[in-house]
Amino acid sequence: MELYIDDADLKEICRLYELYPIDGVTTNPSILAKTGRNPVQVLKEIRSALGSEAVIFAQVIPTDVSGMVRDAHALVSLLGDRTVVKIPSIPEGFRAIRDLSAEGIRTCGTVVYTPLQAYLAAKSGAAYVAPYINRIDNMGFDGVGMVKKMQDILDLHEYDTKILAASFKNSQQALDLCTYGIKAATCAPSVIDGFVNNAAIDSAVRNFVADFLKVSNGKASVAELIG
Ligand code: E4P
Repeated sequence: MELYIDDADLKEICRLYELYPIDGVTTNPSILAKTGRNPVQVLKEIRSALGSEAVIFAQVIPTDVSGMVRDAHALVSLLGDRTVVKIPSIPEGFRAIRDLSAEGIRTCGTVVYTPLQAYLAAKSGAAYVAPYINRIDNMGFDGVGMVKKMQDILDLHEYDTKILAASFKNSQQALDLCTYGIKAATCAPSVIDGFVNNAAIDSAVRNFVADFLKVSNGKASVAELIG
């Protein structure tokens, strides 16, 4: 499963990128607004921090077809080829996805709340579709169950589109979808940290170090003990 950081805080992005096997960063206008800074500048800084190979997802702002296509071109020229352009999965968005896909620009049908939206974005040529698990849960539906149904539809109709599961609130949701074979997930830094946030893990690691120190004459590593 591809794993993305759903945040625009450069410090957090760099911390996670350094430690975890991360594929890139996803943003949306609200995530960028949280930085309180010029969104274009923030996106440029993320690209320069991650290098040209990392995948960055960035979203168009207009809601008409030509405006979406124009923003998509602007984002690709700003951030380079390894950019996936997020397009809201609305009727105008499906057309923009189709036109951009014909040009070879990779898109993600975003703002996905229903399986049939995912179907339409996939059929239009989106490389990814991004369902919002937590927001679906908050509407009184089963976000994880809805994403599984979307995956079943994509498999049944043999679309290459990957699901980029988004809007997680906890690691259990990520576990459920990873187990189901969902191809990509984007999570806030706290949710990614939550994958290994477990007292038993910390205690086991502490005990191994403590046991080594009992017999290593104060040396805190194998390398130090060898000398
Ligand atoms: C990602 O594609 C979405 O924009 C994002 O995950 C939404 O997250 P939220 O529901 O926490 O705002």
